[in-house]
Amino acid sequence: MNRLPFLSQTLHPQAAGPVRLPPGYRGGTGWMPRIGDIFPDFEARTTQGPIRFHAWAEGRWTVLFSQPGAFTPVCTTELGSLAEAIPELDRRGAQAIGLTPDPVADLTAWCADVAALFGSAVGFPMISDPDGAIAGACGMTHPKESPDVPIRMTLILDPALHVRMIFEYPVRIGRGTEEILRVLDALQARDRLEVATPADWQPGDLLLVPSAFSDEEADARFGAGGWRPLRRYLRVLAPPATAHRAAGAAATRLPRAR
Ligand code: BEZ
Repeated sequence: MNRLPFLSQTLHPQAAGPVRLPPGYRGGTGWMPRIGDIFPDFEARTTQGPIRFHAWAEGRWTVLFSQPGAFTPVCTTELGSLAEAIPELDRRGAQAIGLTPDPVADLTAWCADVAALFGSAVGFPMISDPDGAIAGACGMTHPKESPDVPIRMTLILDPALHVRMIFEYPVRIGRGTEEILRVLDALQARDRLEVATPADWQPGDLLLVPSAFSDEEADARFGAGGWRPLRRYLRVLAPPATAHRAAGAAATRLPRAR
């Protein structure tokens, strides 16, 4: 059964090769992923064999990252860092998958070398996109860079394949794996608890009442007294594990109410 109706619709005329881009994603300069979009489906060759992306990704959180190339310094450290973080991804019900323009044989050799360098196996697939068909159709190239070379992009997709976070880094700047894990935690807290998270939030810190909730709705959702206003527009609540404490006593980087 086709769970995603757009998959049976006409392919985007600009979508070269294996990518199925829904008609609603058509645009004069090509589609760019936006938060809330369902990420397009595609077929790919990977270091773990051929995949159809939706079938592979659906049902778990996915960290999808593109890199300009194998056997390059920044990309190597990023791959090692993510390989080391696989237990942390597992703890969050998440999986990683990378994409570069290199042939599968080169990616396989590079992954082995990264494992030797960092002491952690690259236990996730790396997609080979030699002609840039996937990167180009999925907004992972940049008009100012080569059309065949992916930029340093990271997307977090939820189990229903929606884009929930997008980072783009310059070619010479390596990504922060800690930030990827932090955003996964924040997105999962948001979905589980219907909260917002403040700047620099870490698990255990105070949470925010989303601005969309009236005070009455906040009472209904979090309990009267379960949250408190620092300002009319800034309402905080303790995370569940510390709910027995006064909200202001929880670890927080927020100002105390004055
Ligand atoms: C790097 O990962 O260091 C890199 C990748 C592509 C071009 C230049 C540098």
